[in-house]
Order: sequence, then structure tokens, then C-alpha cells
Amino acid sequence: MKEDLVILLSLIDEKFKGSLFDSSVEDYCDKILKHATIVSIYKLGHIKAFIAYYDNNKESLIGYLSMLAVHPDYQDKGYGKQLMHMAIDALRKLNFKHFDLEVDVSNKKAIALYSKFGFELIRLASGKKYMRRNL
Ligand SMILES: CC(C)(COP(=O)(O)OP(=O)(O)OC[C@H]1O[C@@H](n2cnc3c(N)ncnc32)[C@H](O)[C@@H]1OP(=O)(O)O)[C@@H](O)C(=O)NCCC(=O)NCCS
Repeated sequence: MKEDLVILLSLIDEKFKGSLFDSSVEDYCDKILKHATIVSIYKLGHIKAFIAYYDNNKESLIGYLSMLAVHPDYQDKGYGKQLMHMAIDALRKLNFKHFDLEVDVSNKKAIALYSKFGFELIRLASGKKYMRRNL
């Protein structure tokens, strides 16, 4: 699984000119594999889309989106929306109250998707939008 995630995220990071991660793609994948919940879509035996989110803050009951990524060849086919629906349903079942995320202000496509799902801006800082959706 890690190899698939690294390949997919490296490809996407290239399109963002290497600005998507603070650490290396490998380290980022290690982190989400260890701490996040990951739901993936496989095509031809490989991961082509996945959502990674944190559902471990049982005190605040705030879920946090770490990554939603769809392989460029599979974008605009509804997979992003499908994965977002699944994460929201799962967090609701755990009685989480909010779902938070941060996104680069220039990432128009992701922002359009998040807005459609009812995420609202709660803070704007350092070129990032911090958004929240009630569950
Ligand atoms: C953002 C991303 C996850 C969307 O996934 P996707 O599978 O292509 O999106 P979907 O086909 O499910 O479309 C969902 C919504 O995104 C928006 N969207 C999709 N394609 C779009 C486009 N070409 N331009 C603008 N908005 C677009 C629309 O709001 C769409 O809803 P609609 O179909 O009802 O109009 C995907 O483009 C991606 O992986 N991007 C690179 C990684 C990334 O930026 N992740 C977010 C980091 S915070």
C-alpha cells in the first residue's frame, strides 16, 4: 500500500511543483499509514484515489482531513466526491461533530469540492484556507 501511495502522491506533488508536503512524500505516507484512517479506490490493482483523515481526537470530536487525492487520469469522474461522502458518513457514525481541513488558496478545484460539501472558511493565514464542516 505504501508504494502505491508514494507513487500517486509524488505524481500529484510534481503538478504542485513540490509544494504539497512539508516533509518528504515517503515520510508523509509513513505518518498517515501510522495515524490516519485511509479509504482508497483501486483500479487495475493499484490505488488511484484515496482519502486520509484523522478520527482519533475523541475529546474534541473534530475530524481532520489530511489528504484527498485522485490520480490525474481519474479526476473529474466523481471519485473525490465519493471518498468525501464516505469519510463524512464514517465520522458521523463515530459521533464526531466537526470535520476540519486546510487547503492552499490557489487550489481552486479542491476548494470548489469542499464548498460544495458545505465546508466554510474559518480562518485565512499564510496562503491557506482553514475550513470546517459541521457533521
Ligand atoms: C481535488 C480532487 C481531490 C478532486 O477529485 P475529483 O475526483 O477530480 O473530483 P470529482 O470528480 O469528485 O468532482 C468533485 C467536485 O470538484 C469540483 N471540480 C471537479 N473538476 C473540476 C474542475 N476541472 N474545475 C473546477 N472544479 C472542479 C467540482 O465542484 C466537482 O463537483 P461537480 O462534479 O458536482 O461539479 C482532485 O482534483 C485531486 O486529487 N487534486 C490534487 C490533490 C489535491 O489538490 N488535493 C487536495 C489537497 S487539500
